[in-house]
Amino acid sequence: MRKKVIAGNWKMNKDLNESQSLVSGIISGLGNDDKCDVIVCPPYTSLNEVHALIKNTKVKLGAQNMFYEESGAYTGEISPSMLKSVGCEYVILGHSERRNIFGEGDEMINKKIKKALESGLKVIFCIGESLAQREESITNDVVKNQIVNGLNGITSDDMKNIIIAYEPIWAIGTGKTATPEQAQEVHSFIRNLISNNFSNEIAENIVIQYGGSVKPENAATLLSKPDIDGALVGGACLKADSFLSIVASA
Ligand code: 13P
Repeated sequence: MRKKVIAGNWKMNKDLNESQSLVSGIISGLGNDDKCDVIVCPPYTSLNEVHALIKNTKVKLGAQNMFYEESGAYTGEISPSMLKSVGCEYVILGHSERRNIFGEGDEMINKKIKKALESGLKVIFCIGESLAQREESITNDVVKNQIVNGLNGITSDDMKNIIIAYEPIWAIGTGKTATPEQAQEVHSFIRNLISNNFSNEIAENIVIQYGGSVKPENAATLLSKPDIDGALVGGACLKADSFLSIVASA
């Protein structure tokens, strides 16, 4: 039985004070039950202080990106060991905003995934099609390419440290959620692909999150689908009560 994982991607929101108060609100509203895992991914500038606040709680820390080198002349970039030194356990890689706004392609994302895993970070690997691609009925091809290229050279052992987040781009920040049926269809396709490319056991154990306008009002129905194992939440994670309500649905 897969445990649900709810992660909040804060994106470029919340300065240090705001981050501290958001995470304090989340911690104080979280019950003690161990039914689902909770991850927060604040901006880099808040990671250290948020880590101090989540110590001894069930909340885990993730970063929103990283570079694939350990150190050197890469102005503006952050390395995996830097993330680990401030308490990160997870890193989001391949987010569509990184792909589309910052030009990250599958090859770069693959290098980042390998480096993150080699460094002992767990990866939330994002994939998803654009509206035009969905309308062309090539969603499965797009998702398949992203997975095959992004996970090129990844071992079965590594797969234990990967979460896949299916985030249709047309549903991100638009208020337009994929219907639970649309999401389930792609999630099931992804699980089959993992089964064919790795093994049935890995496919049965891998967590596949849905992301794209997840809100307290739609979380429960999405999460009730057999292959939807959690959510990667953007807008609705920026307020403790709405994030907590999504966690409660899980
Ligand atoms: P929204 O929940 O704001 O649509 O964002 C989803 C997302 O991109 C999470 O990574």
